[in-house]
Amino acid sequence: MKTIPKIPLGNNGPLVSKLGLGCMRMSPVWGRGGSDENESIATIQQALDSGINFLNTGDFYGSGHNEMLIGKAIKGRRDDAFISVKFGAVFYGGQMLGLDLRPMSIKNYINYSLVRLGIDTIDLYQPCRLDNSVPVEDVIGTVADLIKEGKVRYLGVSEITADQLRKANAIHPVAALEIGYSLADRQIETDLLPAARDLGIAVVAFANTAEGLLTGDMKAPLPKDAYQLHFSRFQGSNLTKNLEKVEVLKQMAQQKGCTPTQLAIAWVNTQGEHIMPLVSMSRRTRLPENMEAMGITFTPEELDLLNTHFAPGAILGGTYLQR
Ligand SMILES: NC(=O)c1ccc[n+]([C@@H]2O[C@H](COP(=O)([O-])OP(=O)(O)OC[C@H]3O[C@@H](n4cnc5c(N)ncnc54)[C@H](OP(=O)(O)O)[C@@H]3O)[C@@H](O)[C@H]2O)c1
Repeated sequence: MKTIPKIPLGNNGPLVSKLGLGCMRMSPVWGRGGSDENESIATIQQALDSGINFLNTGDFYGSGHNEMLIGKAIKGRRDDAFISVKFGAVFYGGQMLGLDLRPMSIKNYINYSLVRLGIDTIDLYQPCRLDNSVPVEDVIGTVADLIKEGKVRYLGVSEITADQLRKANAIHPVAALEIGYSLADRQIETDLLPAARDLGIAVVAFANTAEGLLTGDMKAPLPKDAYQLHFSRFQGSNLTKNLEKVEVLKQMAQQKGCTPTQLAIAWVNTQGEHIMPLVSMSRRTRLPENMEAMGITFTPEELDLLNTHFAPGAILGGTYLQR
């Protein structure tokens, strides 16, 4: 299997694998999903064995279930893993009620996260979003205090604007920005990506397959119970037109002897040294395919073709990323 290279997480940051393992879909979130627990643990362990050390979770993924899974998987091999945890989302009954980013709450969250993970220090700790309910200084300042106390190693942020990124980084150095990015969702190229690059902040890019659109497996119309139907991108004529775009990816994959998902991951990977594809994999069978994707390169002609067909805005309708 391919070896995954390591990159520094931000300027002078710790070395992490250039491919990250997203653990979210191993647990129920939004009242759906979750996978076989033994298979999830085996997937995490095989990822670690293969040199993927970056594990991504949130304390609200499965109400702590996801952290407990990771805790079981890393037992006895803490040093093999770099653990990234998001906090701040309040869920009840599969619905997100809002954010609670009060310093008092953050100090409460981290105690529970450390116990569930079975560790003393979280490597990367990040608010899942920022809002105006609590001053940014207080949110970031609280994580900075946790770093001083030794409960956290590095500060991360997620799903924020370029202005918020600059503000957060001015309060305490931000090591990584977690954000949705794919051929289908390129809105961050305007100002957020350049800001991260200027500030020397690594980009942990999730949703590379755009909720499965770019896997090449989707057919219109989607089954009535498909969660993607909540998003306009997957409804009616939008989906039909979007799947026509995906044909280009399928043809290129066939010519290159790979899969559309591999191309979707490879495209994100080749956008920069500081950009890490963060991919959900809930079973071991996903690992070889997605790891191989990290070795795929594009000719200038192939990149032109992809950039033309998947120009920013070419995919019709949005998902939760277009807020
Ligand atoms: N900061 C945030 O706001 C935020 C939001 C969403 C997600 N995240 C993080 O980012 C990670 C990735 O995000 P995501 O799950 O939305 O996007 P994703 O990585 O594009 O995954 C979407 C789906 O693609 C499937 N998949 C993976 N490899 C595949 C392959 N080779 N062929 C076909 N399908 C494949 C996965 O299936 P299986 O699960 O069945 O393997 C998953 O259901 C999450 O796990 C989470 O840790 C962060």
